Amino acid sequence: MPRVMVHNVNDDKQLRDFKDLTADAKELIKAAIEARQYAYCPYSKFKVGAAIQTGDGSIYTGCNIENGAYPAGICAERTAACKAISDGKRDFVACAVVAQQDSGFTTPCGVCRQFLAEFAMARDFPLYCAKPACPPLQVLATSIRDLLPRSFSFLGNK
Ligand code: THU
Repeated sequence: MPRVMVHNVNDDKQLRDFKDLTADAKELIKAAIEARQYAYCPYSKFKVGAAIQTGDGSIYTGCNIENGAYPAGICAERTAACKAISDGKRDFVACAVVAQQDSGFTTPCGVCRQFLAEFAMARDFPLYCAKPACPPLQVLATSIRDLLPRSFSFLGNK
């Protein structure tokens, strides 16, 4: 056994061929790809698209929206989540995130993981990370609780 394990992305057990995904997952990823075109990111120039499916089958999309006051910007995942929640939909069924990095898949940042975990307390939900080629070849299939086990919760603190 070598002392340093070098993992190739092709060894990743969470990698899926796009064609093998469910129709719902494919639709969600395509919606995130579509939403990515609206990214407002003049500072980072890093476009991100996201889509969230809710229990009634609706799809809420989002893009990152940056601001000259940098911390005021918001990620694509939270844009999509805020749209869903403010429309009365909190039962998240699945989420897709799309961005282009040559080196690997873009997964939600720490803040987004915590934000989404709030809505995965009762039931974890799958999270698909993909690149913007439509259809993408491969997808990283993970889940919100896989990305953030033991997330902070205040709900038990009544
Ligand atoms: N960003 C997202 O929208 N989602 C992620 O998962 C990672 C980062 C945005 C925030 C910022 O506008 C840009 O990408 C660079 O960090």
